[in-house]
Amino acid sequence: MNFEVLKPQIETIISDTAKTTNERLLSICQLLETHIDHYNWVGFYFADSDKKELHLGPYVGEPTDHSVIPFGKGICGQVAVSNQNFVVPDVAAQDNYIACSITVKAEIVVPIFVDGKNIGQIDIDSNTPDPFTEADERFLEFVCAHVATILS
Ligand code: SME
Repeated sequence: MNFEVLKPQIETIISDTAKTTNERLLSICQLLETHIDHYNWVGFYFADSDKKELHLGPYVGEPTDHSVIPFGKGICGQVAVSNQNFVVPDVAAQDNYIACSITVKAEIVVPIFVDGKNIGQIDIDSNTPDPFTEADERFLEFVCAHVATILS
C-alpha cells in the first residue's frame, strides 16, 4: 500500500484519546505490518537513559528474547547512541547485529525525538532482502514525529 494512504490512518490512531498510548502504538504496529508487505516485524523500543538500555514496547510479529538491549549493542542499540536512521539492506553483513529470527534479511530503525532528545525508536524487520528505500525513511520519520506527540 502507498505510504500516503497510510499517513491519515496514522493520524487517526494518534488522535484516538479513548485508547491508551500503548494501545495506539500497538495499533500503529498492526497497521504497518498488515499493509506494508516488506514489514514483517514492527515494534517500538524506549530508552532508559539512566540504565543506558532500550526496553521493548508494543510490537507485532514473532516474540523476541531481546526485550532489553544495551545502548550500543545491535542495530537498535547503535541508533540509541547515533540519533540517526539505520538502514540495513543485509543483516548478514553486519557485525554488530542481534538476530531475532533466521527469516529476517533486512532491518530499518528510525529514532523518535521528544524535545530534541532521542527517547526511543521504531524497529522494523523484513524477510525480503534489501527492501527499504528513502520513501520508507521519510514515512517512518512521519510516524515517529506523530508518535512523539503522545509521549512525554
Ligand atoms: N535486530 C535488532 C534487535 C531487535 S529485533 O530485530 C526485534 C538489533 O540488531 O538491534
